[in-house]
Amino acid sequence: MTEAVPLPDHRAAPGIHPFPSADPSLDALFAEVIGTPEGRRDPYGRYRALREAAPVYASSMGLVICTRYEECQSVLRDPRLGKDEGSREERIEARFGHLEIFPSIEELLSDRRSLLFLNPPDHTRLRSLVSKAFTPRRIEQLRPEIVGLVDRLLDRIEPGSVTDVMDALAFPLPANVISHMIGVPEEDWPRFRTVVSQATALLEPIVPEEELEAALHAQLELERYFEQLVATRRRQPGDDLLSGLIAVQEGSDRLSEIELISTVILLFGAGFETTTNLIGNGLYALLTHPEELTRLRRRLGTGDRATVVRSAVEELLRFDSPVQFDGRQAFEDLEVAGVPVRAGTEVVTVLGAANRDPGHFSDPDRLDLARDEGPPLSFASGIHYCLGASLARAEGHVVFDRLLERFPDIALVGEEPEWRPRITLRGLNRLPVVFSG
Ligand code: HEM
Repeated sequence: MTEAVPLPDHRAAPGIHPFPSADPSLDALFAEVIGTPEGRRDPYGRYRALREAAPVYASSMGLVICTRYEECQSVLRDPRLGKDEGSREERIEARFGHLEIFPSIEELLSDRRSLLFLNPPDHTRLRSLVSKAFTPRRIEQLRPEIVGLVDRLLDRIEPGSVTDVMDALAFPLPANVISHMIGVPEEDWPRFRTVVSQATALLEPIVPEEELEAALHAQLELERYFEQLVATRRRQPGDDLLSGLIAVQEGSDRLSEIELISTVILLFGAGFETTTNLIGNGLYALLTHPEELTRLRRRLGTGDRATVVRSAVEELLRFDSPVQFDGRQAFEDLEVAGVPVRAGTEVVTVLGAANRDPGHFSDPDRLDLARDEGPPLSFASGIHYCLGASLARAEGHVVFDRLLERFPDIALVGEEPEWRPRITLRGLNRLPVVFSG
């Protein structure tokens, strides 16, 4: 049982209420993960140390940090915690107020009208409008298209020469699929690779000043682009998700203009980076565990291929999750595993750590592509459970299935590849490999 700590009054500074009895060595571990290249490159040993010392840790930063599966899952499912809507304006003013590029706080807030940042009832209303497009059945219907697209991308690979998998496959596949679903013209989406990447910096726990400005500009660029695309689709509707949402908006008062734009930006952005990193992190894990890869190839040849691929992708999602951090704000005073949490406190759920919790997964630091111990927390849990999970899984299944079928030999080139300076969205900048077929 963790000893209760006396809590400071949080109301003076929303979102920041340091815990005076925090342990500096545990603070340092967490700071390494979020703030240093070494910590971001290999967070797992640090997560383990944090979990063993204090699985629910009240840090001096005022955050409560959860590193076990059980607490992460229960925090994500608990209606007493949710998205931080209340103090949003004050925090944004405090954080961005000095930047002159924005005429008003309103403009900064527009991205926050998407379901990812909302609580019920707004969240429920918006989610129900888009969820039909992402049901497992609808995604299953997309599978032949995904297979065709993956094969076309793999056709372009030159066996024997060095290929950057991030460029050749990991980025274009999900970007193409989500752009097609939403109705973003093909000639437009490649330019958003950098823009989306800059905008998602805002999801990170620490954003350097120079990246902050770029992120806010990127956010505005996405808004301007989608405002225009909405106007175009209003005049010329298509058979796509955006036209469907416009029809909903015009036929009822269930979706405001700003919600429409933010929702489409969320779907577009979410479809980009996360699945890209499932493919990059997943292939890197396979190539650095050659014995496991050989076993997988053997099982693919002898067992039910779809089942074998499905469990391999679940394990890749667990082993090196594309989303490492999630979190909720406490709406009322409560306890997490005996640790008191005041209303207003941010509770961080470290999904990457929960997925390596020995209390939930046996021998969790081992990559075991036949593991059958239930889903990881990579898509979170509760009402914000990833809306695109079926789509991401389908893309992962097709990619790894086709890659392993078409290329009997895949070799890493060089030493460790370059990780992006991010931790919430963990992924590689480049992954050079040689394919032989
Ligand atoms: C491997 C790939 C992916 C991973 C690991 C992932 C992970 C996540 C996680 C952890 C959340 C929960 C965020 C929270 O609790 O606040 C989430 C939410 C969401 N994801 Fe994904 N995601 C992936 C792919 C996708 C794709 C392809 C889409 C397609 C559009 C998508 C759309 C969304 C949306 C709309 C939400 C917000 C749901 C809500 O707030 O109700 N994701 N995702």
